[in-house]
Amino acid sequence: MDRRRRAVESAVPAAVMVLLLLSIAPAGAARRDWGFRSPSSSVGFTEPNTKPDVKNNGQTFVFNYTLAKAIVEYASAVYMTDLTALYAWTCSRCNDLTRGFEVTCIIVDVQNCLQAFVGVDHKLNAIIVAIRGTQENSIQNWIKDMIWKQVNLNYPNVPNAKVHTGFYSSYNNTLLRPAITNAVHKARKLHGARDIIVTGHSMGGAIASFCALDLAIRFGSNNVHLMTFGQPRVGNAAFASYFAKYVPNTIRMTHERDIVPHLPPYFFFLPQLTYRHFPREVWEHEVDGNRTFQVCDGSGEDPNCCRSVFVLFWSASDHLTYMGVKIEADDWSTCRIVLGRSAEQLQMNLASNIVTSGRSVDVVIAGNSVQVD
Ligand SMILES: *[C@@H]1O[C@H](CO)[C@@H](O)[C@H](O)[C@H]1NC(C)=O
Ligand SMILES: *[C@@H]1O[C@H](CO)[C@@H](O)[C@H](O)[C@H]1NC(C)=O
Ligand SMILES: *[C@@H]1O[C@H](CO)[C@@H](O)[C@H](O)[C@H]1NC(C)=O
Repeated sequence: MDRRRRAVESAVPAAVMVLLLLSIAPAGAARRDWGFRSPSSSVGFTEPNTKPDVKNNGQTFVFNYTLAKAIVEYASAVYMTDLTALYAWTCSRCNDLTRGFEVTCIIVDVQNCLQAFVGVDHKLNAIIVAIRGTQENSIQNWIKDMIWKQVNLNYPNVPNAKVHTGFYSSYNNTLLRPAITNAVHKARKLHGARDIIVTGHSMGGAIASFCALDLAIRFGSNNVHLMTFGQPRVGNAAFASYFAKYVPNTIRMTHERDIVPHLPPYFFFLPQLTYRHFPREVWEHEVDGNRTFQVCDGSGEDPNCCRSVFVLFWSASDHLTYMGVKIEADDWSTCRIVLGRSAEQLQMNLASNIVTSGRSVDVVIAGNSVQVD
């Protein structure tokens, strides 16, 4: 694990040098401070804004810590590789604020290394959809890929909106889209109309964005909430404004110097051609030793939030913890292990375990779905 962590860290300077060359321009016209500070220090932000943002149509945006903490625990649990412990909700990451969660569907796409679950949180009175991020043993390649990635797909039926093909296809062209929408339909029928909360970390957050948009169009914008952790950008400005209209209940958590939310790069001087985040960022960082959740402005690219961190200080390790919760793969080589067995065998083992347990859980596993990207 340490060896891999070091590999992850050593990939970052290379990535950062490239980015430095590319994005030497200032983050915003009114920048007061580039966040220059020693990487080991957790202080040094000038004029931290810890007040809630009040420019949201005059309404104060309130960040609910307890709710966010429960959601980050779901985003962390979906990385667990023991599917039996996952459907029974007995996994080591399944026993804090999410206790009592009822999994109704587990989805595994072996070939594309995707995993998700759907279930009902009776305390929150909500349907939860959680989507796993990349297997982290490929995070270096993944980060490098994102530096060069262009917005390369016209988003269907939205003029000028462009998105990242890989993230979009991982949702649209795999098992995820039909399996998640079916599971949400079923859960709503069985448990009544409830809020739908979609979450994911890293690439899982990018895929979760497309999922939330799809669900908002099917089930209504008021019923769908999205909270992602350390997600990369997924589309251009036209897509971001379309997204903000249909999924207004969105929180994009960023953490300290996490590199991933800075990728693929945003160039303020090419507003229509490059990637742009949708709102609303909430930046978790330390201000004078106090952990702060800074509610950012409604632009999606608030220069006073994580964008105030200078490019040389971007960090891969800050990507792996959110709200004090470890959020990374529990087994770094999962995909290889799963691929070693056949999908049919995996499905059979799980199905028989589930029948024995007497629980009602759908397991949807695909070995050979469409190869994305
Ligand atoms: C925050 O969310 C929790 C869980 O949904 C809820 O019980 C609590 O009332 C919320 N707090 C506020 C201030 O809205
Ligand atoms: C998205 O999925 C639909 C239904 O499977 C398919 O017809 C469409 O071509 C896909 N869109 C893209 C851009 O791949
Ligand atoms: C941390 O927050 C507390 C309570 O809000 C405040 O009294 C204290 O001054 C803060 N610490 C620093 C170092 O600013």
